[in-house]
Amino acid sequence: MNLNDLNDLKEKAIRAISEAVDLEALERLRVAYFGRKGKMAEILSQLKNMAIQERAKAGQEINRLKKEIEAAMESKKQELFAWRDAAKEWIDVTMPGKKLPRGHLHPRTIIIRKMEEIFQSLGFSVVDGPEIETDFYNFQALNIPPDHPARDMQATFYINGGDNKKETPISLSQNRVLRTQTSPVQVRYMERHQPPLRIIVPGRVFRRDATDASHDCQFYQLEGLMVDKEISVANFKAVLLEFFKRFYGQSVKIRLRPSYFPFTEPSFEVDMSCTVCAGKGCRVCSHSGWLETAGAGMVHPNVFLAAGYKPRLWQGFAFGFGIDRIVMMKYKINDIRLLNSGDLRFLRQF
Ligand code: PHE
Repeated sequence: MNLNDLNDLKEKAIRAISEAVDLEALERLRVAYFGRKGKMAEILSQLKNMAIQERAKAGQEINRLKKEIEAAMESKKQELFAWRDAAKEWIDVTMPGKKLPRGHLHPRTIIIRKMEEIFQSLGFSVVDGPEIETDFYNFQALNIPPDHPARDMQATFYINGGDNKKETPISLSQNRVLRTQTSPVQVRYMERHQPPLRIIVPGRVFRRDATDASHDCQFYQLEGLMVDKEISVANFKAVLLEFFKRFYGQSVKIRLRPSYFPFTEPSFEVDMSCTVCAGKGCRVCSHSGWLETAGAGMVHPNVFLAAGYKPRLWQGFAFGFGIDRIVMMKYKINDIRLLNSGDLRFLRQF
């Protein structure tokens, strides 16, 4: 053994250590060098064959070599540990992402879309109008002049013109109200469009009424209006029956009962046969076999006049569904107030 051999050994060892790919490979090297039958043991065993003076010098060399190899092993070990920890934090970029909870439609929205789809397929366009209306559109243009007793049919939220009022007192017809019905959109639409026309108007309306399980101070209506030459009640019945059959199924029947609205003449209530008992009579329909679903009638000539049409040239029918009633029937909801509650325990069920 000479010093060159020791140097060779050291270089080999340090190269092998630097090439170790994991902690197990490094451990194998430790055993190979420092184990009981390892290279170091072998070298030390050769010392006793040396002359005394050389032995001391060689012993020092071997110690140095041992320290260097140990140091190289220690630093490699730290490096391999770091790698192993990094591997634990490894991210699989091909893994599918976490599923986010998906939102869904409000039950009322589902019904409105279904109704829109059916009426659109019958040639009706969907339009809307403002929820804050003037007294003119909500009442006067619909043949409800000031002091008309029909105003009492719909308890109204009035918005009294604020500062407006002090400076230029606004006339009654410009006074703002929360619309009590979607019917004002009939007039707004006819002012801007010439017949023939077919529209529906789904939207929110407001009434200053006490709330209970079947009344809320805000609810939804779906208005309909069709105007053309020679439109009759027969056309109205055909369109409505077609809607009901597509919405509830072929077996549903409808009937018209005389009623009164200032903006239609003649006016009717539209009843449908009860879907719960198929017309036999049950609690839902108060044992009559029929359910009220809409107010309707032939457009009053005064409404055509207010919109700028010549009443002699045109006829039309109009109707107004209460949407919330339909939603409640469809999903068996027993309190209308749930629809506006925003309560997720309720909404998650749809
Ligand atoms: N606007 C009426 C209501 O809210 C319903 C209706 C609409 C009646 C259209 C006739 C024609 O009660």
